[in-house]
Amino acid sequence: MTDAFNEVVKISVQPKLLLQNRKSEKWRAFDPEILPMPFAVMDYDLAQPIKDALTSLVNNSDAGYLGKFPELGEGLSGFAKSRWGWELSPDDVKICTDVGVGVIEVCRQVVRSGDLIMVNTPVYYNFFNWIKELKCQIYDAPLIEQDLKYSLNFLEIEKGYASGVKVHILCNPHNPVGAVFSKDDLAKLAELALKYKVLIASDEIHAPLVYRENTFTPFLNSSSIAKQVGIAFLSATKSWNIAGLKCAQMVAVDPKTRSILNQIPTAVHSRASLFGAVASTAAYQDSIGWLDSVITELDKSRFHLGKIINQLDFPISYCIPDAGYFGWLDMRSINLKLSEKNQFELSEILLSHGKIAVAPGKLYGPSSAGFIRINFATSSEIIEDAVSRIGVALSAV
Ligand SMILES: Cc1ncc(COP(=O)(O)O)c(C=O)c1O
Repeated sequence: MTDAFNEVVKISVQPKLLLQNRKSEKWRAFDPEILPMPFAVMDYDLAQPIKDALTSLVNNSDAGYLGKFPELGEGLSGFAKSRWGWELSPDDVKICTDVGVGVIEVCRQVVRSGDLIMVNTPVYYNFFNWIKELKCQIYDAPLIEQDLKYSLNFLEIEKGYASGVKVHILCNPHNPVGAVFSKDDLAKLAELALKYKVLIASDEIHAPLVYRENTFTPFLNSSSIAKQVGIAFLSATKSWNIAGLKCAQMVAVDPKTRSILNQIPTAVHSRASLFGAVASTAAYQDSIGWLDSVITELDKSRFHLGKIINQLDFPISYCIPDAGYFGWLDMRSINLKLSEKNQFELSEILLSHGKIAVAPGKLYGPSSAGFIRINFATSSEIIEDAVSRIGVALSAV
């Protein structure tokens, strides 16, 4: 259902010295000699329609609170239809501050303290923090891994559902492993969720960044049952790189799930920002050429990363992701040797000896020690610098 890809926009990255002038977290977290690779933001210049929309707000001194904003529902609905063939009513789109706030507020309507919430590790580490904030317990049904290809483990999922899981926070596409779940798998999950009365909170923040040979299925569009058991969380913030603008969308398409969204405090809408809503609308409506060009760029980078990792003379495995801009690098055998020698953990070694900051695998779940996650949404110079620093660090220990 994907529209023809429309790669018309030149995607550029400023030189590192200029990137270092940025005020956002990525460029402030470490000293300038450290290459910061763990953050989920892209280094690309913003899409021109987004810049124009933000500039027009500024020029009009229009920086007040976010009020009614139907344009965003319309924008997401148009994008969902042309990109994924998903017929979505703009009225079913509600705005929230960010995906984290949206998931937490939805969960607050359906869980009590101590309840079980399912995740599938290795997974975006803030899911653990959200569950902690809700004073609930994590139920992990880890993904199945075979040769670094990951899939849902339905046996473990059903076991968890049967033991009382109330909400399943699904990550589709999956961060950090870059997997995209099939329509059949999502429909199967929906059937189990109906049987055991589990709400699926489907975090689809990375959905616009699925590579061409893969098909993203929105959970709510995977079957008629999925519509009854799921609430989806979408956002333009990852794919158009506007996370600091604070705006995400929650979607429910069934009377029961709509009533959950209607119960959450209205402040969740107004705590999003006008800048976020305006920029997200410009993203969904006017920045598709930019998105397609970014996907082309990321496509080259994901393979380039693999090629230069292979040129390092170290046992590092990497499976090209189906979505997103993370390299999930398997360095378990190196990590094992380091721990036998009582050395520091891998990411600490990379930081101290290679001057590169990475996201340590153990953040994403108990079985991921020895993996690292690096972000390749940057220039080829920075990707090459990152791999070279990994090489320098490993040669030093
Ligand atoms: C899967 C996933 N969900 C949510 C988020 C955070 O989104 P937000 O800033 O909208 O809470 C991220 C950020 O990287 C993510 O990877």
